[in-house]
Amino acid sequence: MGKSEEAITLKILVIGMAVIFALSLAVIVFFILYQRKLLAQQKRHQEKETRYQKELLKTAILSQEKERNRIAKELHDDVGALLTTTKLYFNQITPDLPKSEIISLTNKSLSFLDTMIESVRTISRDLRPVILEKMGLIEAVQSLVQSIQDTGAVSISFNNQPIQSLSKSSELNCYRIVQELLNNTLKHANASRILINIKTEKEYLVIAYEDDGKGYNPDTEEEVEGLGFKNIKSRLSVVSGKFYFPSTQKGFRMNVSIPYDAS
Ligand SMILES: Nc1ncnc2c1ncn2[C@@H]1O[C@H](COP(=O)(O)OP(=O)(O)OP(=O)(O)O)[C@@H](O)[C@H]1O
Ligand SMILES: [Mg+2]
Repeated sequence: MGKSEEAITLKILVIGMAVIFALSLAVIVFFILYQRKLLAQQKRHQEKETRYQKELLKTAILSQEKERNRIAKELHDDVGALLTTTKLYFNQITPDLPKSEIISLTNKSLSFLDTMIESVRTISRDLRPVILEKMGLIEAVQSLVQSIQDTGAVSISFNNQPIQSLSKSSELNCYRIVQELLNNTLKHANASRILINIKTEKEYLVIAYEDDGKGYNPDTEEEVEGLGFKNIKSRLSVVSGKFYFPSTQKGFRMNVSIPYDAS
């Protein structure tokens, strides 16, 4: 090999190495930038998830607080007031009182006690519907449906297939979700028909709900979401359940699924 050939080979070698170096550098820079972008994306996603979880927690606490306030108010106004009056009646009962007055005061106290028993029943029934306790989810929903049908405001068709047993808390969650959906239809939809289907799909209990009212667009109306939908989400997050709005030409639809094993 001549001197000039050697110089050309050396030149090619140097250029080659420079190209390889530049390419490697480009790959490394690209990789770092890509990695950074990925991390930033992950961070944004995590922040969104954390915000969402915080929001759910806030809703759960808020509705718990609302429920506590309601119970406190009912206990105070109803049971508390009745107890105070009954105590006043008992205070009036003394041994030297004529028998007829003792009987009258005792009867009044007994009637107050009856009202009080009824009040306590009502408060606990609202906390956990008696029918749910005694007959289970399907019967409880059936009874809820019947009580709304009886008002004549809307016609409801409720279909159910055999479902597996759920824990008490999951049953209550399902019941409250159906209750909220029905309330929403009555409040917002101006619907004439409601369809409720409760069934089993694989290892999920599925509630398919729809009405033929004015409809709801989940994409545009998310901002005006009230406590109702937030409660549904927070109830579902506790039992690892999911919900989505199937597409519809008319009215409102929501599908809820709850895994049996999470109950
Ligand atoms: N079946 C429905 N048909 C039409 N719009 C609905 C229906 N259900 C809900 N919406 C709309 O979705 C919004 C959010 O419902 P959500 O239950 O979260 O709140 P709300 O019913 O307004 O208040 P809250 O449940 O706290 O009393 C409602 O304000 C209403 O505009
Ligand atoms: Mg609502």
